[in-house]
Amino acid sequence: MRVSLSAILERAPGLALLWTRRSEPKLAAPAPSEAELAFALELAATAPDHRSLTPYRVIALWPDGAEGIVEHLERERPDDAARARVTLSRAPLFLVVVFHPVHGARTPLEEQRDAAAAATGYLLLALWGLGYSSMWRTGRLARDPLVAEHLGLDTDEQIIALVGVGTSLGVALHPRDRRPTLTHLGSARSQETLGQA
Ligand SMILES: Cc1cc2nc3c(=O)[nH]c(=O)nc-3n(C[C@H](O)[C@H](O)[C@H](O)COP(=O)(O)O)c2cc1C
Repeated sequence: MRVSLSAILERAPGLALLWTRRSEPKLAAPAPSEAELAFALELAATAPDHRSLTPYRVIALWPDGAEGIVEHLERERPDDAARARVTLSRAPLFLVVVFHPVHGARTPLEEQRDAAAAATGYLLLALWGLGYSSMWRTGRLARDPLVAEHLGLDTDEQIIALVGVGTSLGVALHPRDRRPTLTHLGSARSQETLGQA
């Protein structure tokens, strides 16, 4: 049996932050201020992180920085540059979350990458709590060696996300018209599958 969402939110109103966050592909100015951004990043860094290695860093791409990437691509691959320009015009700020592996640490690299992804999720929620919408993007740009070169990434670093950030235009990627469920939540004790409607 499902617990009523409204009853939960009445008991724990802070959980509305999770329920109401939506990815938004197109975002308007203003972007967060430097102070708001610093706070959001501080909150993102509270995400679970095995052995507290902070195996990631974040590069803020303001419009001039985004233009720098487009110009860099234009010199090599004009078609990709045009595509990048469209993508990077969709928000007044992009936060590039970069996985920065800590070699020699006892925490396996895949767990370090998990921590970086967890921090990215927290970042979206922190921004939403501050009144800004966002969208986690990957795709071609995130994997493009020219983008990595332009941003000065080390050879072992990887882009986890290009998070578009800005002010909501009220158009979500997907409406929250259904309640997502973990459809295969099983119990180790009984092997029964929970969470089924
Ligand atoms: C690792 C990762 C990569 C993603 N990359 C993209 C992307 O390249 N393009 C895109 O439209 N959405 C991308 N998303 C966002 C998802 O599409 C979005 O979170 C999902 O559709 C659920 O929507 P919601 O965030 O509004 O709940 C990505 C999300 C994650 C976790």
